[in-house]
Amino acid sequence: MATNDTNLQAVTLPREWSAQSWRARPATQMPQYPDAAEFESALAELRRLPPLVTSWEILSLKQQLADAQEGKRFLLQGGDCAESFDECSSDVISNRLKVLLQMSLVLVHGMRKPVVRVGRFAGQYAKPRSADMETIDGVSLPSYRGDIVNGPAFTAEARRPDPRRMIKAHARSAMTMNFVRALIDGGFADLHHPEYWDLGWVGHSPLADEYRRMVAAIGDAVRFMETLSGAEVHNLNRVDFYTSHEGLLLPYEEALTRQVPRNWGWFDLSTHFPWIGMRTAQIDGAHVEFLRGIRNPIAVKIGPSVTPDMLLKLVDVLNPEDEAGRLTFIHRMGASQIAAKLPPLLDAIRRDGRRVLWVCDPMHGNTESTANGYKTRRFANIAGEVEQAFDLHAAAGTRLGGVHLELTGEDVTECLGGARELTETDLERAYRSCVDPRLNYEQALEIAMLIVRKQTQISAPL
Ligand code: PEP
Ligand code: CO
Repeated sequence: MATNDTNLQAVTLPREWSAQSWRARPATQMPQYPDAAEFESALAELRRLPPLVTSWEILSLKQQLADAQEGKRFLLQGGDCAESFDECSSDVISNRLKVLLQMSLVLVHGMRKPVVRVGRFAGQYAKPRSADMETIDGVSLPSYRGDIVNGPAFTAEARRPDPRRMIKAHARSAMTMNFVRALIDGGFADLHHPEYWDLGWVGHSPLADEYRRMVAAIGDAVRFMETLSGAEVHNLNRVDFYTSHEGLLLPYEEALTRQVPRNWGWFDLSTHFPWIGMRTAQIDGAHVEFLRGIRNPIAVKIGPSVTPDMLLKLVDVLNPEDEAGRLTFIHRMGASQIAAKLPPLLDAIRRDGRRVLWVCDPMHGNTESTANGYKTRRFANIAGEVEQAFDLHAAAGTRLGGVHLELTGEDVTECLGGARELTETDLERAYRSCVDPRLNYEQALEIAMLIVRKQTQISAPL
């Protein structure tokens, strides 16, 4: 796509925005579609298809994120690194939902505050890559950029960017959303029946006892309230669930960006909460330009190379009115760098007095390769980064308002360590991710328990 226009305006000048204005800016991480007519026809079809979420839902999430900024809620955002079309299945979707519900139960119970639940699903199909091409045995093909762009197999056929995949991604996202909504509306998340979300293999888990004690305590509390009031406690059978994905493939996001009858402005209706990664967070770049004009709450991932100055510029461009709930920064520094890199950023934003929600992604700064060739993450580093994040925010006078995790409800062996102490040889048993390693059910629950312990310690220091 022709997106390299060097005739940029200064970001400090007020500028017109449209759902297409990103096209005049340098757009990194975009696939090169070989057939322009095929590409345009897929976009025309997408523009006619119904949206995946509504503006009311988007605005209610923004309000919940505003509450999280004030410490009244805690954000739990999690799901696969990348969804795949093949794994759009009943088990994968419901197991992932179960883990997120269990984690949120642990957090609500332990932190005594409501949790904002946001899935990294129903649209998490586009991946940034460090190189445009991949070379194996002298053969070079376009890199795999997620199922919305091309296929993972190393063949010319699979790696050809196919615009029809955007239509399929929209359909798979809709199926995922539909199933999640139906489960939740049907009482799947009912606090009277937490056994609905038990996962078969949990029975053998070293964490099972602690989890079951918590569930029993909540059950007692619910029954006590109901006995006291003589009626069923309502609102315990439903929860809000929101979706998020990386807003990477801008033509797709643009096609789903719409105006709606009863709310002003433009909404990206492909998801409630799009984020952009470090690789696309250039202040004059296409992705920042796109995010700038939509009314959704938005997030930017920030890594060790971000400076306070860059961060303040992002705040100016992405949230010039200092709107509550609008802007989230997801820091992903790595356990070994967070102590050096995060505090100057926290200080800069605090001194500036601007509203942001701070969220810790303890996954992406802690990726490493094992001797036997697996991309993995050590549980101890993930846990260590979360713990340090709580301490560093407390020391800086800012607030850690949530976590962003890559996890799955499947019994995979992709991250090392945890209660079952997975080792390098265990990785071979059930390594299924074709991108980043995810926490399995048990490791995810363990992180939730750790957050509770840490947060309790911070709010009641000895
Ligand atoms: C991701 O969230 O999967 C990702 C690629 O993250 P980051 O942009 O933080 O590297
Ligand atoms: Co990832």
